[in-house]
Amino acid sequence: MGFRLPSMSRREGEGAARGFDVVPMRRRHLRAVVAIEQAIFPSPWSASLYLSELGQGSTRAYFVARCDGVVIGYAGLMLAVGEGHVTTIGVSQPWQRRGVGRMLLTKVARAAIERGAEALTLEVRVSNTGAQSLYHEFGFAPAGIRKNYYAEVHEDAIIMWAHGVQSAQYAERLDSIEKRLRPGSSPWVGGGGPP
Ligand SMILES: CC(C)(COP(=O)(O)OP(=O)(O)OC[C@H]1O[C@@H](n2cnc3c(N)ncnc32)[C@H](O)[C@@H]1OP(=O)(O)O)[C@@H](O)C(=O)NCCC(=O)NCCS
Repeated sequence: MGFRLPSMSRREGEGAARGFDVVPMRRRHLRAVVAIEQAIFPSPWSASLYLSELGQGSTRAYFVARCDGVVIGYAGLMLAVGEGHVTTIGVSQPWQRRGVGRMLLTKVARAAIERGAEALTLEVRVSNTGAQSLYHEFGFAPAGIRKNYYAEVHEDAIIMWAHGVQSAQYAERLDSIEKRLRPGSSPWVGGGGPP
C-alpha cells in the first residue's frame, strides 16, 4: 500500500467525470476479466469457466467494475436456497485498495438481498487478511475452516458467513458503506488519486 496524500483523499466529482460504473458481466468482458484473474490468482479461472457461470441464468449474478469502459475488477455470486455464495472477487493490481472491491461487494450483496438471500457466505485464504478485513466490514464472520481448500498453494480456507442480510440493520450497514463510496461512486474516495 502506497502513501496517501490527505489532500487527495476526496476528489469530489472526479469519479463521475471519469465514468466509473459497475455493470453485469458479459461475454465481451471476459478477456479483460481473465487477464486480471491471471495476474492476481495463483489458480485462475478460465474464460470457459466464466462462460459457463454466465450461462447459469438466475442462479448467478456476475458484475464488472469499469473506469472509462475499461474493466478494473469483477465479482460473482451464486444463489442457492436462502443463500448467496460469493464465488469470486478480484481487482486489477493498480486499482487495489481504492474502494473498487468495496463497490463490487456492495453490488453483490444488494443483488443477493434482492433475490431473497437471508445470508451470504464465501471462502477466503487464511493468509488473505486484507480480503478478510473487507469481508468483516460487510458483516462476514468466520464460521469454520476448509482444510487444504486451495490445494495448489497448500492453504486452508476460512468459511465466512454474514447472516440476517434482509434485516434493517444490514440495510443500514450497506447504506453506510455506500456513503463512503460517494461522490460518483469514485473508487479513489479515501484512496489517493487514480493509478
Ligand atoms: C481483496 C480485493 C478484492 C479487495 O479489493 P480492493 O479494491 O483492493 O479493496 P478496497 O479498496 O475496496 O478495500 C476496502 C477495505 O478492505 C480492506 N482491505 C482491502 N485490501 C486490503 C489489504 N491488502 N490489506 C489490508 N486491508 C485491506 C481495508 O479495510 C479496506 O479499507 P481501507 O482501504 O479504507 O482501509 C483485492 O485486493 C484483490 O483483488 N486481491 C487479490 C485477489 C483476492 O485476494 N481476492 C479475494 C479472494 S477471497
